[in-house]
Amino acid sequence: EKIEKGGHPHFMIKEIMEQPEVLANAMRGRILDDGSIHLGGIKPLLPRIAKASRIIICACGTSLHAGMVAEYLIESMCRVPVEVEYASEFRYRTPIIKEDDVVIAISQSGETADTLAAVKLAKEAGALCLGFVNVVGSSIARQTDAGVYLHVGPEIGVASTKAFTGQVVVLSMFALALAAERGTLSKEELASRGLALRDSTKLIAGALANADKAYEMAKSFRFAHSFLYLGRGFNYPVALEGALKLKEISYIHAEGYAAAEMKHGPIALIDAFMPVVIMAPKTDPTYDKIKANMEEVAARDGCLIVVTDEGNDEFDSRAEHVLKVPESPEWIAPLVYSIPLQLLSYYIAAFRKCPIDQPRNLAKSVTVE
Ligand code: G6P
Repeated sequence: EKIEKGGHPHFMIKEIMEQPEVLANAMRGRILDDGSIHLGGIKPLLPRIAKASRIIICACGTSLHAGMVAEYLIESMCRVPVEVEYASEFRYRTPIIKEDDVVIAISQSGETADTLAAVKLAKEAGALCLGFVNVVGSSIARQTDAGVYLHVGPEIGVASTKAFTGQVVVLSMFALALAAERGTLSKEELASRGLALRDSTKLIAGALANADKAYEMAKSFRFAHSFLYLGRGFNYPVALEGALKLKEISYIHAEGYAAAEMKHGPIALIDAFMPVVIMAPKTDPTYDKIKANMEEVAARDGCLIVVTDEGNDEFDSRAEHVLKVPESPEWIAPLVYSIPLQLLSYYIAAFRKCPIDQPRNLAKSVTVE
């Protein structure tokens, strides 16, 4: 088992650390040197997908958060409306599904009962159903009309890490392929974005290189009772995922929130004992607004942890802690900003001596409702 963990104490940290390599595998042969995207599984269906009046994404847990990133990706690049639904809610609320809808199921295991049920419902309604799945030959992979495998290798840790970034990478490739088919991005833009996505593994490796800082921070925060994670735009789902990760493995309560929504509730909780993690990439068009959200936390003596770009020293003296990651284009930021949050959760759980790979009450594959 020690060999399987590659010398790491847990599968989770092995899976976090191997992300640059496995994500490169996920893109190999799918992003060519000219930046063009080739997703064999869905290629023949692209003309039909391009005519969809709406895309509905169904998933559970971490996969739902990847789906939320896809909503930002697809709407901005392809100009098609996207709805993201918890599969469990979608299936029981007599959803309106039309024949020209495309339903995408996202699942690491490919076996999640609610997501599988959503696929069946979508197919009965005559919609085209795609599966973005990691486990080859799994139920969702078999039941969908077509799909794209993540190809990130088996994920053993119950808390999903490389499967999440793998989903975001595959969904980014999908958005680029769809934008090419729909003509919503210029040829030059498509090529440069394709290559930027392929190069994102270097940025992820850069974010992993700062693991020591996350380790040091985890030491200070291991006794916290509750965390708040805030992000805007592309990083809003990253905030949700950061909070979920911490809850899952460290058993510390955590909540993810859209930063601007903080004033409508969570702000009441802020005091000196509440660590608030805020994502502040300079490439985000709402950067100034994120800074205003930070001031709201600081004014209430909140304990600020800022995640921002390398070279940005703006918060060094204003925040309790600053985690830095390589600068990335706005739409690639979720891949890079997820990394320090994964590391922080992992190290906090390790300091608390939690059973990281198999947290209590959780299962890797939830095949019951
Ligand atoms: C379980 C796992 C989560 C996962 C979720 C959805 O709750 O513990 O890590 O995100 O199921 O799983 P899926 O295999 O469909 O992505």
